[in-house]
Amino acid sequence: MKSAYHRHFTLPADLHYLNCAFMAPLPIRTEQAGIQGIRRKRNPARSRPQDFFDESQEVRESFCRLIDGEDPDRVAILPSVSYGVAIAARNAGLREGDEVVLTRDQFPGNVYGWRRAASEVGAKVRLIDPPEGVLPGEGRARIWNERILEAMGPRTRVVSLGHVHWTDGSLFQLQAIGARAREVDALLVVDGTQSVGALPFHYPTIRPDAVICATYKWLLGPYSVALGYFGPAFDDGIPLEETWIAREGSRDFGGLVNYRDSYEPGAVRYDVGERSNFILLPMVLQSLKLLLEWTPELVASHTARLSAELLSWARNEGWAVEDDDWRGSHIFGLRLPAEVDHQALGAALESAKVAVSRRGDALRISPHLYNGAEDLMALQDTLDSVLREGRR
Ligand SMILES: Cc1ncc(COP(=O)(O)O)c(C=O)c1O
Repeated sequence: MKSAYHRHFTLPADLHYLNCAFMAPLPIRTEQAGIQGIRRKRNPARSRPQDFFDESQEVRESFCRLIDGEDPDRVAILPSVSYGVAIAARNAGLREGDEVVLTRDQFPGNVYGWRRAASEVGAKVRLIDPPEGVLPGEGRARIWNERILEAMGPRTRVVSLGHVHWTDGSLFQLQAIGARAREVDALLVVDGTQSVGALPFHYPTIRPDAVICATYKWLLGPYSVALGYFGPAFDDGIPLEETWIAREGSRDFGGLVNYRDSYEPGAVRYDVGERSNFILLPMVLQSLKLLLEWTPELVASHTARLSAELLSWARNEGWAVEDDDWRGSHIFGLRLPAEVDHQALGAALESAKVAVSRRGDALRISPHLYNGAEDLMALQDTLDSVLREGRR
């Protein structure tokens, strides 16, 4: 039976889409908001100065609520995660001899900005490896977390990582990592792209210095918008561009040439130029409203329930699966047994219309509310037949 949430999307009825970690399908309401946004420009005379501000503010408020943040003005509207990371890296106060702690193989959008900032001042980027030879389910993610905590010390200026690893869903204990960061006077910068929206994120408990999320995955939004929440450590930072709209007094369209030195409060200074995108922001807003209605807790419990059967089958078949406490339920990896023919598996998945990602020797499975038990069953049946074929 289809999930009750499937009707909010326009996914093809015969597709088993288990790949939200790649890209979310657009909810119908979000699509409609985008179309309406395009149509607004048919008649520019109807655009009012407050339109440049009100929608942006609503987006800030909704994202702030989603992460249990404290102040909507701390939310910046960005074009990508890389852009938000570049802001954090530019303003992290890195100095010669400092260390930036990252996890091995994290998404490059949260690596290159740190590499540049570190190389400019003679600081070092350290990539923390998962334990070699330890399989998921045998302590891999737990030991990886321990290694991150051990790597942080007096030289650490920044630790930056996801809540889950983007390739296999390994869970990072941000509360403990945040506490350790404060102990050693380092900043915690979280890339929430693969988690916020699907895994509850409680800002007051984790207390990160920045959280940055692309909207096109678990926030169910469009491509080319990201949102960043910047804490007090970034209050006096230098933005990547000097937009007129982030300056105090910008609401007075008649007085824009009375140039000001001061910015709007919070993180508004970090907004991308032309942040009041009249097509994309209404889409982001609709998706955020849907998620606030549905809640990340519901996404997490729905996906946990859905995947339980597949995971116990996979464990029985001898596939390496991470323990429940050490992985996301919305995104997880299955390490393929040696006898699986990768080409045959790819062909079988395609013909069964099962969409997942392959990352190295693992399958990345990432369901959402629109998925039902039949989607996971289609995946299990396909894996089962390829496995039996391989054993013959
Ligand atoms: C963990 C993570 N961060 C960020 C991104 C996107 O980065 P950007 O917005 O810089 O393209 C992705 C895309 O797959 C991702 O998986």
